[in-house]
This record gives sequence, C-alpha cells and structure tokens, in this order.
Amino acid sequence: MNGKQQTWDCWLRAGWMTTTPAVFPAKQRNAVCGKDEPPLLIKVVIAMQRTDIFTSWLGVVGLTLLLLSSAACASGPVPVAAPAATAIPLPLAAQRSDFPAAARPADNPQNAAKIELGRQLFYDPILSSGRAMSCAHCHRPDMGFSNGAAVSTARPGAPPRNVPSLWNVAFTRQLTWDGHVESLEAQAIDPLTLPHEMASNPAEIEARLGALPAYQQAFTAAFDSADAITFVNVTRALAAFQRTLLSRSSAFDRYVAGDTAALTATEQRGMVLFFSERTRCAECHVAPAFTQETFRVIGVPSDDPGRAAVNVTGLHGAFKIPTLRNVARTAPYMHNGAFPTLEAVIQFYAAGAGRAQGFPLVDSLLQGFTLSGEEQADLVAFLGALTDESALPPVPSQALSGLPVP
Ligand code: HEC
Ligand code: HEC
Repeated sequence: MNGKQQTWDCWLRAGWMTTTPAVFPAKQRNAVCGKDEPPLLIKVVIAMQRTDIFTSWLGVVGLTLLLLSSAACASGPVPVAAPAATAIPLPLAAQRSDFPAAARPADNPQNAAKIELGRQLFYDPILSSGRAMSCAHCHRPDMGFSNGAAVSTARPGAPPRNVPSLWNVAFTRQLTWDGHVESLEAQAIDPLTLPHEMASNPAEIEARLGALPAYQQAFTAAFDSADAITFVNVTRALAAFQRTLLSRSSAFDRYVAGDTAALTATEQRGMVLFFSERTRCAECHVAPAFTQETFRVIGVPSDDPGRAAVNVTGLHGAFKIPTLRNVARTAPYMHNGAFPTLEAVIQFYAAGAGRAQGFPLVDSLLQGFTLSGEEQADLVAFLGALTDESALPPVPSQALSGLPVP
C-alpha cells in the first residue's frame, strides 16, 4: 500500500468525514492520524455527498461555514455537567437539544376536529377500491405502525419496500426510504391511488364519503365549510392525524431528564456503547430523534438504487437514516426487511456492514467493531429503552363508514 493510500485509509478510519463534529472532537480524530488531517476541499466534497446537497449552493456555503467553525472549535465542545445523581454520566451526544420543529404546511393548520377526522380516515377501508384495505392495514398500530412483513405488497414500477413506522413522522421532511416525497399531505396520494395499494381515485373517494352523513358532519367540523369533502382535504386530515403520533417519553428520555432509575444497568451500558466512538451509531442516528435527514449507504444486500433513483447526486444504495424510536416494535429491519432481529442488525454493523460483502461506496463511518455477547445484549436493551407508545390514539372499534376495522 503506498503512502497516499495509507493516509486516506487513516482519514476514513478516524471518521474525519463525519457531519456531526460535536460528537467526536477534532482532536480525538487527529490522535489516530497524527496531525495529518484531510485538506478542507476533501472534507467538503465528502460531507456534500453525505448530505445530498450537490444541487444546493446555499448548502455548500452553509457546509463550508460549518467546517470552518468546527475547525475553530478544535479544542472540543465544552463538557456539560451531568446531573449529580446520574448513575452513568450522560454521554455528550445524548444531551443534545430538542427535536426539530414539526414540518407543517401553512395551509393545513392542526385542529382537534381535523385530527379526529384523520384518525377515522386512517382506519377506514372505505378509502380503498375494494373496501378492504385502510392505511392501518400496513401501518398497524399494534406493530409500531409497521406490519411485521419484510416488504409490503409489491407495486408496479416501485421497488418492494419495508413498511416504515409512522412514529414521529411529524418531524420528517423527506418521506419514504429514498425521500422522494416532501410532505405528509403529498405522501397520502400514493397509497390511496396506487393500483397495488388502496387502488382508489379522487372522484370515487369524494363520492363515497359524500354519501355518508357521518363524514359530511366530520368534514364540516374539521374544515369549517359545507363543501369540505375533497380529495385534498382527505390528505390534509390524514396528515394532521399522523402529526400527533409523537414518541418522546421513553425510559431514555426520563433518564436524560434526570431520573436515574429510568434505565436498568444493562440499558445504561448499552447507551454508553450506542454513543461511543467504537460503534458510532449516534453519528447517524442522532439524538433525540435518533435519525438525521440524510441518505447514507450502509450496504444492506439489495438491488434497490435508493437515493440514486431520486436525485442525480444521490448515491446508489443510499437510504434515509430511519428513526430508532420504537424500533423494538418494528421488526424486520431495513428498507427491504433484510434482518429479522436487532441482534442481526448489530452483527451486520459489527462485521463492517456492506463493506464486508464488497458493497460499493459504503459509508466511511462503518468500519466494524467487536462486541462481546453481553455488550450486544446491552446495546439491544438500550434500543428497547427507546420505546414509548403512550401517545397512541385509540383505535376505532368500527370505521365511521360502518365497515369493520381490519
Ligand atoms: C399496502 C401497504 C401500505 C398501505 C395500505 C399504506 N402504506 Fe404507507 N407505506 C408503505 C410502504 C411500503 C412505504 C415505504 C415506501 C417507500 O419507501 O417507497 C410507506 C410509506 C409511508 C410514509 C412515509 C414514512 C416515512 O417515514 O418516510 C407515510 C407517511 C405513509 N406511508 C402513510 C400512509 C397513509 C396515510 C396511508 C393510507 C392513506 C398509507 N400509508 C397506506 C405501505 C403502505
Ligand atoms: C453511516 C450512518 C449510520 C451509522 C453509523 C449507523 N446507522 Fe443504522 N441505519 C443507517 C441507515 C442509512 C439505515 C437504513 C439502511 C437501509 O434500509 O438499507 C439504518 C438502519 C438501522 C436500523 C433499522 C431500522 C428500521 O426501522 O428498519 C437499525 C436498528 C439501526 N440502523 C441501528 C444502528 C446501530 C445500533 C448502529 C451502531 C452500531 C447504527 N445503526 C449505525 C445509518 C447508520
């Protein structure tokens, strides 16, 4: 291996290209490669690939500023004092701020009647052509709003994908595994109309709902207008309902808030591993949302082009970093449901993710690691401590149309 190659490998190993500099201070990375940092230009190019912003010059400027400011803070972030009673001090990256602001279009303000209408529509098979499939058919409330299957029914022209959870979808700006949809309102159109999903159409939906007095009243209350039964309003009410599916009161959140009894010893050890430089999980699954709106290649075996099919600069096999909130409820895992358990997911990462199988362009953060059996169990236990379904709205026993809820 020549000198140049060695330096490059060293930069990758040291995780220089990360977009979350606060997690591991520059000094720590320098320790791996001596003083040998990559030139700024290389850092910018790789960070741009990561954040999928080749198309946005504004983003380029922003990133350059970010890199400059992270260089200025090379001495590392100021450590925040952990509460005295904390059993294991909170890792720095676990203390990070708030969820992002909810993504909410100005023309669809939330109100109680609209949220209630959305809840009824979500569970009502009247929206499907055969009157047998509702949103909840795939996004099941008792399965973390996923459905336990590796992939949902295949749709023509669309790759078969695992059903994503809808918990905390209010914060997501780029929806679906490859981020090709930009609002919850727009997202609802696909399942309602695609032939292998609910296979309906706007006129049919409006006619069916318009014939039912219960829906006439519910739409009038939600939109404050007598002719509110429109397809667009159906998508608005569904979106308003989904924005209430918030999960942010898990055992982990109570621990962060200072309740030291909230996490067991094994969950605490798992937390330390999750936020460690050894596993690097927290550099992509960033707390408190445990996601990040970027598309990364981890190399799950699959032919799905992912982000490359959406954006000319998207990498082949890059997918959105999914949230890990309620992840213990949504097996199997990944865009194609390739892994049946969280243990299998961790073993995949430990082996160096897709890198081990020669998958091209695998993210430089994924270099593999070794965990003992006990450590793996700790990490799984910590992922379980991200479970919170306390905001689950009641599931109607019968749909507003009178049809049975599947
Ligand atoms: C036949 C199964 C099925 C049905 C029915 C269904 N979905 Fe989905 N849903 C999926 C799959 C699969 C995806 C992932 C699609 C992709 O990545 O291309 C998805 C993605 C989503 C997403 C994006 C989530 C994210 O985190 O990016 C939202 C929101 C959503 N569906 C809402 C709905 C709503 C609202 C309905 C009812 C109108 C519905 N779905 C009906 C299977 C289904
Ligand atoms: C380089 C960024 C990155 C790092 C580091 C990373 N992940 Fe991921 N993670 C992703 C992406 C991207 C996906 C989705 C990939 C796909 O579907 O093909 C994912 C998926 C997952 C899933 C499946 C979630 C679901 O709903 O299907 C779990 C669980 C998970 N990661 C846990 C972890 C753990 C634990 C670690 C640390 C050992 C980790 N991740 C490190 C980017 C990352």
